[in-house]
Amino acid sequence: MFDLLLKHCVLPDGRTDIDIGVRDGRIVAIDRNIAAQAGEIVDAAGCLLSAPFIDAHFHMDSTLSYGLPRVNQSGTLLEGIALWGELKPLLTQDALVERALAYCDWAVSRGLLAVRSHVDVCDPRLLATEALLHVREKVKPYLDLQLVAFPQDGILRAPGAMANLVRALDMGVDVVGGIPHFERTMADGAESVRLLCELAAERGLRVDMHCDESDDPMSRHIETLAFHTQRLGLQGRVVGSHLTSMHSMDNYYVSKLIPLIREAGVAAIANPLINITLQGRHDTYPKRRGMTRVPELLAAGVPVAFGQDCAMDPWYSLGSGDMLEVAHMGLHVGQMTSRDAMLSCFEAVTTTPATIMGLTETGLEVGRRADFVLLHARDPIEAIRLRATRLGVWRAGRRIASTPAPVAKLDLQGRPANVDLLAPQRPV
Ligand code: FE2
Repeated sequence: MFDLLLKHCVLPDGRTDIDIGVRDGRIVAIDRNIAAQAGEIVDAAGCLLSAPFIDAHFHMDSTLSYGLPRVNQSGTLLEGIALWGELKPLLTQDALVERALAYCDWAVSRGLLAVRSHVDVCDPRLLATEALLHVREKVKPYLDLQLVAFPQDGILRAPGAMANLVRALDMGVDVVGGIPHFERTMADGAESVRLLCELAAERGLRVDMHCDESDDPMSRHIETLAFHTQRLGLQGRVVGSHLTSMHSMDNYYVSKLIPLIREAGVAAIANPLINITLQGRHDTYPKRRGMTRVPELLAAGVPVAFGQDCAMDPWYSLGSGDMLEVAHMGLHVGQMTSRDAMLSCFEAVTTTPATIMGLTETGLEVGRRADFVLLHARDPIEAIRLRATRLGVWRAGRRIASTPAPVAKLDLQGRPANVDLLAPQRPV
């Protein structure tokens, strides 16, 4: 006897006509033709049932603040940072909480049930830290929020930043962040990586640094991050976020660098929507794309996730918590068009970020929490193509969001038809 039984699902690994049984909030059976009683039976009708979407790189303290106090005119990273600096003194805790909770509602409606958010710790009041710690507790029943102590203005460049960051960790922030390319000098950047990795090692924490978010091919802090990860035995716990300078680096140097990243067990997070809009702003033509070398990192065995990074804030005026939009952009910018590469784009917003964030509760396996998303698509590639509608979203076996299938009703010259944009079924 199950509490919930989903029938006739397609799974992201290609298995078809699979049933999934849920009891007490956990997946207890994954098999074909399960014949058992259930409190509720849902017919997936050949649609894709996926583990939930996971965003390994986001900024929930700035989200939904677009236009406050003004709009980023140049569209650059640096104006975004300056604009955020103007907004910070005006922030209130109530407004921060309200915007973050509103974004979490968007996320859940999109089947996005885990987010790693950086939180700026350079404001000595730590208002945003307090606000997001509150939000983390509030959303716990339906969304895993992991927080990174992020020294936006530089751990060495901003007075008091290290003390603030340590206070944020003491308050319960989960992960150590950094921004070496924003320190005053390359040497300070390297020193910031050393200090922050040592802090994480002392406290047994993970590290996720904004690293080399720059078009400068000489921004090589990822090399230092890999070095200290290995020196301190932090393998598997460290992430280089953005790594956009790698886009512009010399190919010979990259041929040495990527194996070093792999050897150190450092993972990478690209943020395709933001990288394609913020990078290359100083170029005339040709304009660089700026996204890091995703296919090459994957080929070397480096885990790569795609993050949303920003949604309606000083750096990005669009975004809606749709990780399929993120995967769609990553696929295009990285020219990842083979079937395997397209599948890896789906993994970059589902299973890979779960591994990077150390989330062991979620995943389509017997014994895991019954978190999943039913998509209006027949496989992961179609899900990306259509940015598929989330027909249903479940957390611990409870349905927490539903959206009707998008079916257009046509009437062409008296010939009525229903159009749902699903591809005609034929073997590929
Ligand atoms: Fe970021």
